[in-house]
Amino acid sequence: MNWTRLNLVDGFMWSFMAGIVSCGTANAGDVLPFDDQERALIESHGPWPPAFVKDPSNRLSGNQSAIELGRLLFFNRRLAVDGTLSCATCHRPATGFTDGLKTAVGRSNLPRNTPGLVNLRWARWYGWGGGADSLWAQSIRPIVAPQEMASSGGPIKRLLSVDKNLACLYNKTSAVNFDEQTDEQVLVGAAKALAAFQETLVTGATPFDKFRIALLAGPSNPTTKYPLNAQRGLKLFIGKGQCNLCHFGPLFTNGEFGDIGIPFFIGNGKVDKGRYGGLQNLKTTRFSLTGIHSDDATKQSALKVRHLALQDRNWGEFKVPSLRNVAETAPYMHNGSLASLADVVRHYSEIDEERLHVDGEKILKPLRLTERESSDLVAFLKTLSAPLLQTTHVTRRSPVCSPVN
Ligand code: HEC
Ligand code: HEC
Repeated sequence: MNWTRLNLVDGFMWSFMAGIVSCGTANAGDVLPFDDQERALIESHGPWPPAFVKDPSNRLSGNQSAIELGRLLFFNRRLAVDGTLSCATCHRPATGFTDGLKTAVGRSNLPRNTPGLVNLRWARWYGWGGGADSLWAQSIRPIVAPQEMASSGGPIKRLLSVDKNLACLYNKTSAVNFDEQTDEQVLVGAAKALAAFQETLVTGATPFDKFRIALLAGPSNPTTKYPLNAQRGLKLFIGKGQCNLCHFGPLFTNGEFGDIGIPFFIGNGKVDKGRYGGLQNLKTTRFSLTGIHSDDATKQSALKVRHLALQDRNWGEFKVPSLRNVAETAPYMHNGSLASLADVVRHYSEIDEERLHVDGEKILKPLRLTERESSDLVAFLKTLSAPLLQTTHVTRRSPVCSPVN
């Protein structure tokens, strides 16, 4: 991790001059003074977007026919056993690829909140408990889960053979003759296409990213209009709030799991095991990077799974979510228990240390923020949103697949 690297040309002068500017009346282009340490921390949240590297475990990653196939499958209700649910029923493009519900509703009620699907190419684990180690494995779960689409390889293979356009696209992505593939191979192929499509859901430069670039470029650069309340919120995020200890780097997440005292009882004496359950799944599933369906011949990508061990502390730990586009995906947390960003900030401000694991996150203490600090932090979180870079992938009408080109 090199996020403390200092790469500042004229940090001191810039802070000094910016300090003078901010003494005057607050205009839209004003910049608060940020010291060298703050500037280094701000730098660590970029650049954005990171380079796209194909997923070595998915031979269809970056493949245009697969992206198109994945897009069509994503919006296709026939993926569900009774034709009533598509991925987009829960992951709606208009609401940040979530459903806006506290917890998801499929064929029956699910215990968890539906996460958004942007910028997932750079995630390390998938699902709130990290029960999947790749985007394609995570895409199999809703297809087969009884509470969601309740389907299986057989019906998916049938769908891909009766729909001419889907069949044509599938054949283009596959080196093996369709009829010779097992139901499971077709299921995995469809999931890999779904993953290839989801990899294209990348958000663009946010107001924060633009401010970061202008700040690091120094005073010769025209300052962007980044509101002062968001700047104060940013200072809290990387300072007193210590939010960046877990929500760090360009994605605003360490990619791992934590316990921030969100209750994990789900009624009837049941608990959501969180990361513990995720690890149990990774150790037993056929669909992991250690299994036969990974296309990574070097097996390098499987290293992260091989050395996992179940620990008591993993009970009730949940994935540290990326905060990019967080303003679009209310309600919040694995169980959707916090309705707004203001509620999230209040949670951290008044955190109940009794609720945290004894061997858990010692860094969390009630922040006791003032009203102004709380609203500044919310203002900052709202500057982490931007539209998708390639919206056409979601809205475009589909050309009919031609087997020859
Ligand atoms: C019934 C609603 C529902 C449907 C249908 C659904 N999902 Fe989800 N999705 C969820 C929920 C809830 C989670 C969180 C699951 C968990 O934590 O185990 C989730 C998690 C995910 C994640 C992990 C995101 C992350 O940040 O880790 C991906 C990827 C995903 N879904 C893709 C899909 C795809 C692809 C489909 C269609 C094949 C689909 N989903 C269908 C509700 C749904
Ligand atoms: C100890 C690590 C840690 C620290 C420090 C931390 N977070 Fe989190 N954050 C998490 C985890 C873990 C979750 C998910 C918890 C869950 O769902 O049970 C989360 C969830 C969130 C969410 C909800 C996102 C969503 O999509 O549901 C927001 C917003 C958030 N944190 C903002 C902050 C802010 C602001 C701070 C600083 C005041 C902060 N976090 C400090 C670990 C941390």
